[in-house]
Amino acid sequence: MAKNKVVLAYSGGLDTSVAVRWIAEKYDAEVVTLTIDLGGGSIRSDVEERALRAGASKVVIVDGREAFVRDFVFPALKAGAIYEGVYPLATALGRPLIAQYLVQVAEEEGAGIVAHGCTGKGNDQVRFDVSVAALNPSLKVIAPAREWGMTREQEIEYAAQHGIPLEIKEGPSYSVDVNLWGRSVEAGNLEDPTVQPPEEAYTWTRSIEASPDAPTDIEITFEAGVPVAIDGEVMEPISLIEHLGQLAGENGVGRIDHVENRLVGIKSREVYEAPAGTVLHKARQALETLTLSKEQVRLKSHLAIDYADLVYNGLWFTAHRQDLEAYVESTQRYVSGTVKVRLHKGSCTVIGRESPLSLYRHDLATYEEGDTFDHAASVGFISIYGLPVRTQSRIQLHRK
Ligand code: ARG
Repeated sequence: MAKNKVVLAYSGGLDTSVAVRWIAEKYDAEVVTLTIDLGGGSIRSDVEERALRAGASKVVIVDGREAFVRDFVFPALKAGAIYEGVYPLATALGRPLIAQYLVQVAEEEGAGIVAHGCTGKGNDQVRFDVSVAALNPSLKVIAPAREWGMTREQEIEYAAQHGIPLEIKEGPSYSVDVNLWGRSVEAGNLEDPTVQPPEEAYTWTRSIEASPDAPTDIEITFEAGVPVAIDGEVMEPISLIEHLGQLAGENGVGRIDHVENRLVGIKSREVYEAPAGTVLHKARQALETLTLSKEQVRLKSHLAIDYADLVYNGLWFTAHRQDLEAYVESTQRYVSGTVKVRLHKGSCTVIGRESPLSLYRHDLATYEEGDTFDHAASVGFISIYGLPVRTQSRIQLHRK
């Protein structure tokens, strides 16, 4: 009988497959693998077989897609959370949910240890370790790839020796993380920031050259800040994101090439594909211009930066995030309506917006027939508004 029980977040790739065996030996443990489907093709069909062949004592597979969208993606969308102004945080949002399931399964299985496949120089290790600690501080977290010091070649060697199934892919070796909200691609030839990402780095989006000449116009309907329909057709969140991602990707929308600041102090070149996220953030923001006051929009835009940072930095399970969410949630009461966007050769442009709760009043804005704005009242308004300026001018700036 093994001494310990470990629940390992398992993708089925080389690192986590090697980790199953490595943990079993190093920690004298039986290893339960946990694989979570976060959508976007994140789960491989042979994952159970691979886990068992790698030596797992039990395989748990969970469909986390609904929880992912409801509890992580949509709150971040409503907050307008986009890290460093470009990255809609797909990977960063997936990690706390995986941590949540790790803790849940560890508790169900009576395991005292959870494990993940992250290395020691990325953000993901921080997100896992901090989230697990937030949810159950008594659990120990191990990260084999942070400890074992094996090169990729040594891992392959280890796998071969232990009969762990391998599949060595041809082509550039990217490190890819995928979920419904986006694809994150790094390493390989992308490590040179002067080099244009090769087409093979992208799988969800077409190049501008390969995208259709004619634009695609679509209408997205939101209710209380979340998308509910496309072109009038009501859709469940998962299918809506998939469908929109398809349309945007075909038009080359959602490619992101960024040099970002990791939490561990490294600048790193990252390529992302987030077709649905790109469009939804843009459309929602357009709806907020119609339905929120200037002050709400202003404060939200400040909070969005903090929100994005805390998601990126692994602080999902904190009171600070709950408090930001409370403000954001309250602002969303009136963020309902429809936004029309044009997808065309890599760009997503808002070309129309409407809301039953719109604060835009044509009778106030118009320069034509039907103007109800009180022009004469502007005189008194400007007189009072300009009073401190006149006072300062006379007394301090000495301008007569
Ligand atoms: N840099 C991104 C982030 O920190 C993506 C990380 C992707 N992980 C991966 N294994 N490729 O959120």
